[in-house]
Amino acid sequence: MANATGEVPGAFPPGIGMTTTMSPFIERAQAKGEVYIEQPYDLYSEENHETWRRLYARMLPRWEKYGNEHFLQGIANLCLNPDRVPRLEDVNQFLSPLTGFRAKAVSGYVPAFQFFDCLRNRDFPTTITVRHGDKIDYLPEPDIFHDIAGHVPMHTDKAFAETLVRFGDCAHTAAELAKGVTDPEERIRRLTSVIKAMARFFWFTIEFGLMKDRSGTGYKAYGSGLLSSFGELEHCIESPEVQRYPVQLEWVVNQYFEIDHYQPLLFVVDSFDHLFSLVDELEGWMRKGKLDNVSPGEPGVGEADLRSFLHD
Ligand SMILES: [Fe+2]
Repeated sequence: MANATGEVPGAFPPGIGMTTTMSPFIERAQAKGEVYIEQPYDLYSEENHETWRRLYARMLPRWEKYGNEHFLQGIANLCLNPDRVPRLEDVNQFLSPLTGFRAKAVSGYVPAFQFFDCLRNRDFPTTITVRHGDKIDYLPEPDIFHDIAGHVPMHTDKAFAETLVRFGDCAHTAAELAKGVTDPEERIRRLTSVIKAMARFFWFTIEFGLMKDRSGTGYKAYGSGLLSSFGELEHCIESPEVQRYPVQLEWVVNQYFEIDHYQPLLFVVDSFDHLFSLVDELEGWMRKGKLDNVSPGEPGVGEADLRSFLHD
């Protein structure tokens, strides 16, 4: 409730900023344990909007050159404002009628099971902070540019959207299988392996996937990590240093990755129907126990992620 001067107690002044790792609004939400939040649009600073504008403007020509056609269609469908940080509400007005997906604001990290479960419900946990204007090239954390300009355009595509939902089904299967293992130590060991396999699959497809282009001889990016990185988007297509191989499930689930440099190895799908069939296969492998012993290495699987799969 507003006080006599019209201020809401505990509210932050408009324009205070929603910069990654520097936002008092996000810090407060995290301290209160609030994961799903509102997007406090008034708190974005002019510097935040300017960062968005710079990111979008320099990315556009690279998207046109290296982005998958479904992504470009998605960018057109979403009608993002190149000059202002997007309002999730506006994005959803264009997105939801197409595939039922919605961008859902979060305060930060969402444990793995909840993340995949959101996808199953066609909600996409979306970071709402903007990277610092001095670090527009790279930051380890996701920000609204990665999530809205990198991920969400893909969610306008029906086949891609179904693939994400199917991924959510996989998480449910993983949880169900884990709960069926009676020995607690063995349960954690197997679940760790299954989550690792899922994380690797997600990384090499949704985050860093390539697709054959229309000619069948070249490549276009559909992975959001590529589409939100000015440097890596060109590098992933043009550089002779990048290995590009047709996707193989047995390879992907056993392949470790590192997040702090350009990816030296990328996998190529033929289409999103192809990608969907691979997620189907992933679930089949899970049920057969074929993901219970994937090769060790990155990514690590934390306590919170394990716990998220074992909740009731
Ligand atoms: Fe991402």
